[in-house]
Amino acid sequence: MEYVRFYPDGINASLLSEIILCYQRVFEVYPWNEWKKCRACGTHWGISERKIIDGLGGVHCGLPIEEYHPAGKIIESIKKSVSDDASCWIAVQFGGKVVGFTWGRPITAAQLAARLEITKITEKMRAEFGGRTHIAFQHELGVLPEHQGRKIGKKLAALRLADFKARGLETAMFTTQRTPPSVTYLWFSKDGYRVVFESGGSTDRVLLARDITNYEIQVDM
Ligand SMILES: CC(C)(COP(=O)(O)OP(=O)(O)OC[C@H]1O[C@@H](n2cnc3c(N)ncnc32)[C@H](O)[C@@H]1OP(=O)(O)O)[C@@H](O)C(=O)NCCC(=O)NCCS
Ligand SMILES: [Zn+2]
Repeated sequence: MEYVRFYPDGINASLLSEIILCYQRVFEVYPWNEWKKCRACGTHWGISERKIIDGLGGVHCGLPIEEYHPAGKIIESIKKSVSDDASCWIAVQFGGKVVGFTWGRPITAAQLAARLEITKITEKMRAEFGGRTHIAFQHELGVLPEHQGRKIGKKLAALRLADFKARGLETAMFTTQRTPPSVTYLWFSKDGYRVVFESGGSTDRVLLARDITNYEIQVDM
């Protein structure tokens, strides 16, 4: 397995389509089940529910059922990381197949509040982490289901965090789902991250953060 840094603005089309495919395959299965969705009511289905979609004739609420993560949206997410201080990595198998990805960038507490539409987050982060204004926003992380459990995700996350530490960032955060708990929720909670914001509601999205100033990052594994 090779770990390769990529630059969103210099990425070639074939690598971009590999990353998009990997992203879609990571999120179309349990627990995310983000394969198809109804734009009107927000219902979504995983790839294992293909029969349901067929039974519906591909229509819900009178509208055609759509891709949950269309390529354009994924590209938009990647392009948000176009900056010198972003950190974007992929795990590539011999032959060029992308089996894992991660990206993120520094963000200010105010940008974070606007992005997540959480007004109180600035105060909450200040209470937890003092006056720090620049936060390492660990945006996306995924490994193809058939390659999970082999420390590929751990290596990608470590490479990204090492970049952020090298840039002097002192606080790292990410958002995820607590109920049912995502793998990152379980893993990062064990790794010293604490919930600093909870969205409430049925999806139970939470924001976790930790101080990284004294965090020894192990990149060689
Ligand atoms: C999260 C993800 C990237 C982890 O990748 P991975 O390569 O399988 O993970 P690793 O093998 O590197 O394991 C990393 C840590 O997670 C833990 N972990 C992995 N799979 C787990 C599982 N199913 N349940 C609980 N913990 C798990 C491991 O124990 C390990 O921690 P440890 O070394 O301290 O014991 C992968 O599960 C994935 O792509 N999931 C779907 C997408 C997703 O949820 N992305 C994050 C959105 S917030
Ligand atoms: Zn609907």
